[in-house]
Amino acid sequence: MSEKILVTGAGGQIGTELVTKLVEKYGVDQVISSDLRISEGSQNTIQLDVTNKENLEAVCLEYGISQIYHLAAILSAKGEENPLWAWQVNMGSLFNVFETARKLNLTRIFYPSSIAVFGLEAPKKLTPQHAVLIPESIYGISKAAGENLANYYFKRYGLDVRSVRYPGLIGYKSLPGGGTTDYAVEIYHKAVLHEPFECYLQSDAALPMMYMEDALNATLQIMEVDSSRLSLRTGYNIAGCSFDPAEITESVRKYYPDFEVTYKPDFRQKIAESWPASIDDSIARNDWGWTPHYGLEEMTAEMINNLRKKYSGKN
Ligand code: NAD
Ligand code: SER
Repeated sequence: MSEKILVTGAGGQIGTELVTKLVEKYGVDQVISSDLRISEGSQNTIQLDVTNKENLEAVCLEYGISQIYHLAAILSAKGEENPLWAWQVNMGSLFNVFETARKLNLTRIFYPSSIAVFGLEAPKKLTPQHAVLIPESIYGISKAAGENLANYYFKRYGLDVRSVRYPGLIGYKSLPGGGTTDYAVEIYHKAVLHEPFECYLQSDAALPMMYMEDALNATLQIMEVDSSRLSLRTGYNIAGCSFDPAEITESVRKYYPDFEVTYKPDFRQKIAESWPASIDDSIARNDWGWTPHYGLEEMTAEMINNLRKKYSGKN
């Protein structure tokens, strides 16, 4: 039987691109996109607040959903502006997804976790999979709790939940929605538009990052692999590349030598300082063959080429 997929938070940075990949793989009629707000007339797209359990269950029944990619969440920077709301959305929606999946016997759930699960006590470089998790941000706390809930539903109810800890994601097709790593997308837009960039992180704030194409491949790969190959039901560490604002600036200046960057760190610097600088993803590589394909230079070339096309005529 073909899978029928519901994507929550589908209008966000990842959802916008993941839905296209899922449609390519499963067919347009097999993928239902949902978000709080939707643009009128979009095919197979519905309005759904996933904190409303009754509505989520009704949607799953109405469309015969068998899998959920649960992307809806409040990210790290937005979360610090209203921690209670972030907790309610991130944990409330996750309980609803897991309970609905358990009740309706859904076959598979994707839950995106984050490098934000780590805190100051974890090793900063090549942070191992099983480092201590004492996150500093409410977002990180919700992701660490969410991973444990995933593991609980798998062990207690046999719910087939799969999860990766995405690094900061960078793509040219969509804009980020309020995270600490958003600067690494904005910097490319500014360069291509010949505008100066003011960075809210310090020049040496190194973080794990990943090109969107790698992230989408990781997502599809972990969802396809045979269950017996997954030794973890929390969130797998996955690494792409790691760099700080000074290094990405250097990379961009190979295309725009006069690109101007100034630094004005704000509250996001503290969040960044609590996260790893790089990630050890050896367990994902061993378990399900995870391999990234984009380093900083390959990603810069892709971002700049594609943003030039997007903005052609405007600069
Ligand atoms: P985003 O902020 O761009 O999109 C999130 C979407 O969720 C938005 O479109 C928003 O409208 C929607 N949403 C919020 N509350 C909702 C609700 N109650 N009901 C339905 N929809 C709701 O986020 P993203 O970058 O696309 O991230 C998707 C997932 O991946 C999140 O769980 C995030 O924590 C995780 N993640 C993202 C990154 C990254 O760098 N983008 C890194 C690590 C983990
Ligand atoms: N990119 C995300 C954020 O900055 C990490 O989960 O919030």
